[in-house]
Amino acid sequence: MKVLITGSSGLIGSEAVSYYDREGFEVHGIDNNMRREFFGPQGDTRWNLERLRKATRSFHHHELDIRDRQKILDLFKQEKFDAIVHCAAQPSHDKAREIPFVDFDVNAVGTMNLLEATRQTRPDAVFLFMSTNKVYGDAPNELPLKELPTRWDYARTEDFNGIREDCRIDRTLHSLFGASKTAADVVAQEYGRYFGMNVGIFRGGCLTGEHHSGVQLHGFLSYLVKVARAGEKYTIIGYKGKQVRDQIHSADVLAAFAEFTKKPRPGEVYNLGGGRANSASILECITKIEALLGKKVNWTYDEKARSGDHICYISDLGKLKSHFPNWKITRSLDQILETMVKAQFKAQF
Ligand SMILES: NC(=O)c1ccc[n+]([C@@H]2O[C@H](COP(=O)([O-])OP(=O)(O)OC[C@H]3O[C@@H](n4cnc5c(N)ncnc54)[C@H](O)[C@@H]3O)[C@@H](O)[C@H]2O)c1
Repeated sequence: MKVLITGSSGLIGSEAVSYYDREGFEVHGIDNNMRREFFGPQGDTRWNLERLRKATRSFHHHELDIRDRQKILDLFKQEKFDAIVHCAAQPSHDKAREIPFVDFDVNAVGTMNLLEATRQTRPDAVFLFMSTNKVYGDAPNELPLKELPTRWDYARTEDFNGIREDCRIDRTLHSLFGASKTAADVVAQEYGRYFGMNVGIFRGGCLTGEHHSGVQLHGFLSYLVKVARAGEKYTIIGYKGKQVRDQIHSADVLAAFAEFTKKPRPGEVYNLGGGRANSASILECITKIEALLGKKVNWTYDEKARSGDHICYISDLGKLKSHFPNWKITRSLDQILETMVKAQFKAQF
């Protein structure tokens, strides 16, 4: 079995490379280290590529750009992949406004290039697309909220489990990043619904893990741990630091992909995050990190919230769990943080 992973040097892509290599697949990865172009040296993913090269048995790296339609098609014709895990992206809200065409070309057109290459070469392949909760724009902010001492939370009991897939995706403020990902999300649904292909769309909450090249504009928890350990200053942006995110470790993302691959449902969308149990505000994350590091985190506060930023976002995992009862979160937020802190110390020595 042959699998193609795009964004293979990134957080989710690299987890996918390790996972499928362990499972005995022939693994092909596409990554052009564009994260460095987006975010500078701190976003460089070459270290992760080198780690994968050493740790895998059957991994073939392709230094390709998903925007290059012809080269992508040539690779698909040559290799005829059984499964495609699409994780390459321009992943940041704030970055997108500086590079609107690049953002759209990578996120929307790049996704279309991959879907169409799959349709032309192996329409029966499984195609897993990593979408985002930003497809909902700021619609989740319309839910009634209550302010607690360290976090915002949903005010109504019926919202306790979080945001479901039936939350609307239009007539809401997305940011250009949210819009380019929504375009890709809808096109991917169409390749499932219209063409009947085995496409699954996963709308990520906060995806995290020790293999993220965290930067200020993307990879919140990874960046926070990095800055805290180095004793540098972290800036909390808006909502009093009480904004809530649900954190899922990259390994649990892959476990969901594996379940979908066994029993694909064409064009289905799923919310995929840490859920209520793994949700925390920035202030709560800082307290946990302080306990792990044994020192105070140096932070400052900028009152002006990011445009369209979620105040409280928790993924309702009910649909995913009902379709795939074997899937569950296996890593708690505390375990995730512990692993990330340990990895940071290891990287230092
Ligand atoms: N990390 C999160 O919190 C989060 C949340 C929701 C959704 N997502 C989505 O999940 C996916 C994976 O996210 P991640 O955190 O692993 O991102 P990441 O930035 O760590 O990985 C993406 C990789 O894609 C590569 N890449 C970018 N443009 C490319 C191009 N044109 N051609 C080839 N390679 C290219 C980058 O170099 C990078 O290594 C993305 O689609 C992202 O939008 C992430």
